[in-house]
Amino acid sequence: MQILGISCYYHDAAAVLLRDGQLIAAAEEERFSRIKHDYGFPHQAIRFCLETGGIQGSDLDYVVFFEKPFRKFDRILMSVLQTYPQSWKVFRESMITWMLDKLWVGGVIESELGVPKDRVLFSEHHLSHAASAFLCSPFEEAAILTVDGVGEWTTATWGTGRGTDIRLTHKIEFPHSLGLLYSAFTAFLGFEVNEGEYKVMGMAPYGKPRFIEKVWKLIHQNEDGSFYLNMGYFSFHHSTDETFNSRFAELFGNPRPPGMPFFTEESGYPRYFGRQPANYHELCAQNQFYADIAASIQRVTEDVLIRMANCLHQRTGQKRLCIAGGVGLNSVANSRILRETPFEELFIQPAAGDGGGALGAALWAYHSLLGKPRTSCMEHAYWGRQYSESEIASFLDESGMVPGPLRMGAACSRQPQHSGRPSAGRHEGHRQCQDKVP
Ligand SMILES: [Fe+2]
Repeated sequence: MQILGISCYYHDAAAVLLRDGQLIAAAEEERFSRIKHDYGFPHQAIRFCLETGGIQGSDLDYVVFFEKPFRKFDRILMSVLQTYPQSWKVFRESMITWMLDKLWVGGVIESELGVPKDRVLFSEHHLSHAASAFLCSPFEEAAILTVDGVGEWTTATWGTGRGTDIRLTHKIEFPHSLGLLYSAFTAFLGFEVNEGEYKVMGMAPYGKPRFIEKVWKLIHQNEDGSFYLNMGYFSFHHSTDETFNSRFAELFGNPRPPGMPFFTEESGYPRYFGRQPANYHELCAQNQFYADIAASIQRVTEDVLIRMANCLHQRTGQKRLCIAGGVGLNSVANSRILRETPFEELFIQPAAGDGGGALGAALWAYHSLLGKPRTSCMEHAYWGRQYSESEIASFLDESGMVPGPLRMGAACSRQPQHSGRPSAGRHEGHRQCQDKVP
């Protein structure tokens, strides 16, 4: 049975091919289009998957889309109506993009791939995230936590996975979103939303979390781990280009100018910025302030996730936890979950963002919907296009990137080799993993 998973139309479009439950190929569209976070329909990633599998679209048994477009459109319309007239621009822009193509992705799949309508399935956004973590993990049973910006309505879920069954018992809905809270600070700190979040995480260790109390004015967490945002500080629910409002800026001061070079007294002045400016110490003080803000939102994010994980452990009694969703890419928070909660083992989906939704959707259809048993798990993330040394050498030669004669093996990197051997019984209750390389 051959199943293609697809994610697109928000960010990180991707395609994945499964054959009898085994991963054959997976890639994000940006790898081919060279457009970072390309969110368009993943024509090239799909072509790559089909070519790797040696099949055509008409050979597919199912195509599974990673979310439900009509439910997402419902959320956008409801949010627009609730915040009108501030949201008129969102209304205008979303009507154009959604009516033109986003709502009709089923028809696009049908016409592009020659797959009949009854073979096009739709998962749910957070179910796809959950499946991408649990069904790829080596665990027979585990707790599951998904946290991101927003899917259709949902921004976080938690529950349990057993065998092929995934039960997400709790959820938090838009506009209350830990991911969108972090993104608001990403914008405040001068970085691009849905792109610069990792820079906030990287900036945090240069600062001291001295604004934690202020950050807690924006979010309240309940005893059961759920939370809600104080929407009086945000704009993302009625704006396409602003995530926080003037009240937020009153609380935290002026936003950091985009592109402002980052250095502190502790980091020193990097030589690659050129000559040290005359007002170096003044700039250090400014950057230190922003690093302290980054440290504060990072600490609150970690603390929220730790409480969610602790509550999830109390409810489920599970020793293992699977995490996905864009916030699952916060590796600093993940390390604290491992150290500071009773969970003994974590599985984090490497493609925890929406690109991994394509994988989760396909796995959900194969295992949870069609009831096929799990026979493997994901041991590495090298499922994209491979390039031979000669291809790399000729590219470097033609582009003139490497002056002088090319030394093979020095300039060319080699992809890790996989043995294909099963890694047997590492822990009791673990699924034995069969490593498949196309
Ligand atoms: Fe997501």
